Amino acid sequence: MYNELSKLSNVKQSWQGKVRDIYDLGEELLIVTSDRISAFDVVFPTPIPDKGKILTQISIHFFKQTQNIVPNHFISDKVEDFGADFMPFAEYLEGRSMLVRKTRVIPFECIVRGYITGSAWSEYKRSGTIGGMLLPDGMLESQRFATPLFTPSTKADSGHDENISYREMLHRMDEWLAVKIKDYSLAIFNYAHDLLWDEGIIVADTKLEFGTIGNEVILIDEVLTPDSSRFWDKDSYEIGKTPLSFDKQYLRDYLEKIGWDKQPPAPELPLDVVEQTRDKYTKIYKTITKDETRQW
Ligand SMILES: Nc1ncnc2c1ncn2[C@@H]1O[C@H](COP(=O)(O)OP(=O)(O)O)[C@@H](O)[C@H]1O
Ligand SMILES: [Mg+2]
Repeated sequence: MYNELSKLSNVKQSWQGKVRDIYDLGEELLIVTSDRISAFDVVFPTPIPDKGKILTQISIHFFKQTQNIVPNHFISDKVEDFGADFMPFAEYLEGRSMLVRKTRVIPFECIVRGYITGSAWSEYKRSGTIGGMLLPDGMLESQRFATPLFTPSTKADSGHDENISYREMLHRMDEWLAVKIKDYSLAIFNYAHDLLWDEGIIVADTKLEFGTIGNEVILIDEVLTPDSSRFWDKDSYEIGKTPLSFDKQYLRDYLEKIGWDKQPPAPELPLDVVEQTRDKYTKIYKTITKDETRQW
């Protein structure tokens, strides 16, 4: 299943997330993004070719663009900066790897929602709330909120993340830190929403992670990718309808359609699902980076 890793077998791998392979280099980490895809917290046996490169390139693009809004962990994506151990694997690492500053991860996922969809829409239909917070009556699917909502969840080591209210998050951590990551998250969301609006894309929501080095708070992991965000087609967007999207939603919808019980092991994905997912990721990559030359 993870055969691409065998190419790196003489370097000690420190840990593996659902999508990323992490090498601990002391004060720095090398984050290698594989072509694995997960949905509902389960990793699929079928890779999406080049997905790791697409996610890495989008993240690097936005880490650079947003560094004046929020400091982040990015150091370098040049294989020669990774150290001699990694040089034999340059071909695999190229484009899908980032040297970053190692932080203490803040164990919350910082989710910002501009529109009601996904698990927020499900909760709202059930109880009129989102993350326990009461919302106005009568909202329709995909409707825009008056202002973007900060709806954190816990970052579970295993199993599913739990949605909590901002108030609950404040109870569970230092207040100054909670305020800071909330403000940073909203700033990133607003930046991206305004930017991509002009490109015909609606950023419906996004998930961010933060870490600390001493008292310094920095954005880590990935930023504004189709794994972590919902990107909708602005021209065909309609309140009350499920929008056309360029992200992982297509895979989630397929999995709901085939009635998968969301328990491991995940099924193999058919070729057309792999190709459509890849097309969506490629399309959003091009819109964001304006790079038309890459032959993915
Ligand atoms: N700069 C950083 N310092 C410490 N940990 C990080 C940093 N950037 C990312 N991480 C962690 O590395 C892992 C990335 O792997 P990923 O496959 O995305 O994991 P997950 O299954 O948790 O989504 C995550 O656990 C993330 O919190
Ligand atoms: Mg992740």
